[in-house]
Amino acid sequence: MAHSCPPERLQAALDDVVSRMAARVRRGKVADYIPPLAEVDPQQFGIAVALNDGSVHVAGDADAPFSIQSVSKVFSLTLALGQVGDGLWKRVGREPSGNAFNSIVQLEHEKGIPRNPFINAGAIMVADVLLAGHKPRETIGEILHFVRALAQDDSITIDPLVARAEKATGFRNVALANYMKSFGTLDNEPEMVLGVYFHQCAMAMSCRQLAQAGGFLANGGRNPLTGFSVVAPERARRINAIMLTCGHYDGSGDFAFRVGLPSKSGVGGGILAILPGTASIAVWSPGLSEQGNSLLGTDALEFLSRRMGWSVF
Ligand code: DON
Repeated sequence: MAHSCPPERLQAALDDVVSRMAARVRRGKVADYIPPLAEVDPQQFGIAVALNDGSVHVAGDADAPFSIQSVSKVFSLTLALGQVGDGLWKRVGREPSGNAFNSIVQLEHEKGIPRNPFINAGAIMVADVLLAGHKPRETIGEILHFVRALAQDDSITIDPLVARAEKATGFRNVALANYMKSFGTLDNEPEMVLGVYFHQCAMAMSCRQLAQAGGFLANGGRNPLTGFSVVAPERARRINAIMLTCGHYDGSGDFAFRVGLPSKSGVGGGILAILPGTASIAVWSPGLSEQGNSLLGTDALEFLSRRMGWSVF
């Protein structure tokens, strides 16, 4: 369903969000387990809305690049579905986990098949599917190329410092990959698969670029900027369904309750939210909640969804 969205009303709402968020004192805690993320200024806040008519509306630090981290899992999932189709669901489930993003406990019960493609184990499995015997460099290049094409912006890059820091500190991810390998569910060598995963997480994008890249999910699978089909409408619906149920890990229920939009968070403080039929929204504030989701980003989306009457429910 398309929602009506007069540009002046939207811009006034975005400007209001930015001034409300600027006044906030409690801004959450920036992720510090990856050193370059710990250095990001928590006062920053940006928001961008890409409408299905191709227009983009922004406020605050909407053009500042940030580490998209787990938001990248939406793009790698889309790419993997394009490559292997529904066969992907033999390798990874599609149920919410109710656990933290980097939890290892369910993997034992589920014999090395991750619950969903957005928890770390699931995204590592998706990276394994994408790798499929290629060199990690080639697969990383393919993911970057895909995201640039979605956003129609070739200036998007991978931050090598963040990628290196992910590798240096990613002990749990190493454990998850090795654990899946021990069950025989991971095809490629864990080190190669993690090379892909760490680099996709290290993509740096602004809110404007991220909102543009998510546009196909709001527009029935078609990129609003080019008119080209990225995925079939049914696949866009399904990716949105997984974002709604699994996009915020053990905070997914609360996010659906408060905001009511399919979305995906990252520990860099970014959130991509989709209003099917109308808009792709990217918000960024580096401070995180206990569950590792952007504190102000979630508050901002809750405010915007109420003010604009935007919800899938
Ligand atoms: O695997 C990690 O630790 C990170 N590179 C990505 C985690 C992330 O963004 C989780 N989402 N909230």
